[in-house]
Amino acid sequence: MHADMVFKVSLVSTSPIDGQKPGTSGLRKKVKVFKQPNYLENFVQATFNALTPEKVKGATLVVSGDGRYYSTDAVQIIIKMAAANGVRRVWVGKNTLLSTPAVSAVIRERSGPDGSKATGAFILTASHNPGGPTEDFGIKYNMENGGPAPESITDKIYENTKTIKEYPIAKDLPNVDISTVGVTSFEGPDGKFDVEVFDSADDYVKLMNYDALHGVAGAYAHRIFVEELGAQESALLNCVPKEDFGGGHPDPNLTYAKELVARMGLGKSNTGGEPPEFGAAADGDADRNMILGKRFFVTPSDSVAIIAANAIGAIPYFSSGLKGVARSMPTSAALDVVAKSLNLKFFEVPTGWKFFGNLMDAGMCSVCGEESFGTGSDHIREKDGIWAVLAWMSILAHKNKDNLDGNAKLVTVEDIVRQHWATYGRHYYTRYDYENVDAGKAKELMEHLVKLQSSIPEVNKIIKGIRSDVANVSSADEFEYKDPVDGSISKHQGIRYLFEDGSRLVFRLSGTGSEGATIRLYIEQYEKDASKTGRESQDALSPLVDLALKLSKMVEFTGRSSPTVIT
Ligand code: G6P
Ligand code: ZN
Repeated sequence: MHADMVFKVSLVSTSPIDGQKPGTSGLRKKVKVFKQPNYLENFVQATFNALTPEKVKGATLVVSGDGRYYSTDAVQIIIKMAAANGVRRVWVGKNTLLSTPAVSAVIRERSGPDGSKATGAFILTASHNPGGPTEDFGIKYNMENGGPAPESITDKIYENTKTIKEYPIAKDLPNVDISTVGVTSFEGPDGKFDVEVFDSADDYVKLMNYDALHGVAGAYAHRIFVEELGAQESALLNCVPKEDFGGGHPDPNLTYAKELVARMGLGKSNTGGEPPEFGAAADGDADRNMILGKRFFVTPSDSVAIIAANAIGAIPYFSSGLKGVARSMPTSAALDVVAKSLNLKFFEVPTGWKFFGNLMDAGMCSVCGEESFGTGSDHIREKDGIWAVLAWMSILAHKNKDNLDGNAKLVTVEDIVRQHWATYGRHYYTRYDYENVDAGKAKELMEHLVKLQSSIPEVNKIIKGIRSDVANVSSADEFEYKDPVDGSISKHQGIRYLFEDGSRLVFRLSGTGSEGATIRLYIEQYEKDASKTGRESQDALSPLVDLALKLSKMVEFTGRSSPTVIT
């Protein structure tokens, strides 16, 4: 037995630093910004001060992330500040690695030997943004339900960053070895303080097995994943976590997941050979997903609709039914059609996973998704890339269940999607992103679009002058959301133009960038006629795209002749 190391607390004076407003999903800035004196400390203390005292003093907190550059420094700082703020224990994933969905699962499910449960988590991630010394770092706080902090808390955090004067820190606390599983105990002014490093993979796999779909995949998952994909090892691309994500951009879409896209026979750089039947990619913190079939891309908006349409038969977790479904506003209305046809409760929320949490806590929503490659369910309160893959595996298994010997033709990802379109109609969909645009110009573009909305007849006159082959606009507004559970109101959540034929144009400024402004343009067109659901989406959408660019004066405002990324 050795005595626990005793630490003291010092109070450090500081002053507010500009620009610490959490975005769609926490605070994301360049690493060099985070490395400024007191930058991280101010934000962490502002967060502690935004929480009720019992969520700090004596509490258990999780601190982990996607392992990006600066995480190992940041975790030590947060441990020292947690100790000084009277936190009882901190749980850290080995090498600071925990995916965002795993953190959510850990908050909800994990308990210590004395029955302790975590009441919150600092997640160190900038999600799909690149990592490394010259790239992005990020931090966000999740609540005791396992979901991202609601706006009431993030607003308070921001207010606190504007007035902060000091923070306590246990400077003399030695750095904890986060590469070794185990508990290190300390003794401070508030009593005992423990740091427990645990194996994130073990815990996550256990939780996924428990929570999700273990045993569902069975024989057909084996056939699809192992036999169709070939040897197991060769099916895994880029699966060693790196501080800089290998220099790549860890965003699962057709532009950035180049290797997978080529392997699946999509895009120009087809690697040759027969592509596998199923492919999937995740982002830096593994909450986003992209689902691919052989030479086939599933849009995230279709993915959530298809999961919802098939969940009850194919996924045992949902065997007793769906409590409701939800999507973010810019996500296509494919899910709406499924909800209507299956008579499910349906919600349209602003962009940001935090808005789904209240619905789930209130038992109003089981499955939800966003166009931004996020899909999830109420097993946790974050989107979950691995869950989405397991959900698709389950659907594939279910659709092939009468073909156990493999003699009949495999029902493929593409078959499932085309069948879905034939039943529910298709929402042609695309998103244009203009990244790192001058913030002032982006604001002007948005103001121009809001001004146009004041007269619909005027808008329709302008539209007819640009394209005579698109429908009339029936209404236009800035999306506003009233949370049906707590009544909170979120304004200015994107500019919408809704057309008489169900088409939509949506314009938003991204809340996840770290430099300049990113303008997102979402374009959607509904096609009910089953014989017309097989077109190339960029073809089908070209009149609307043309209209959107001209109506918004995109080129004039941004000086960009084409978007940075099209998804
Ligand atoms: C994060 C959030 C999502 C959101 C996405 C895009 O991944 O968790 O809920 O949809 O960012 O946000 P943005 O503001 O960049 O469009
Ligand atoms: Zn992410």
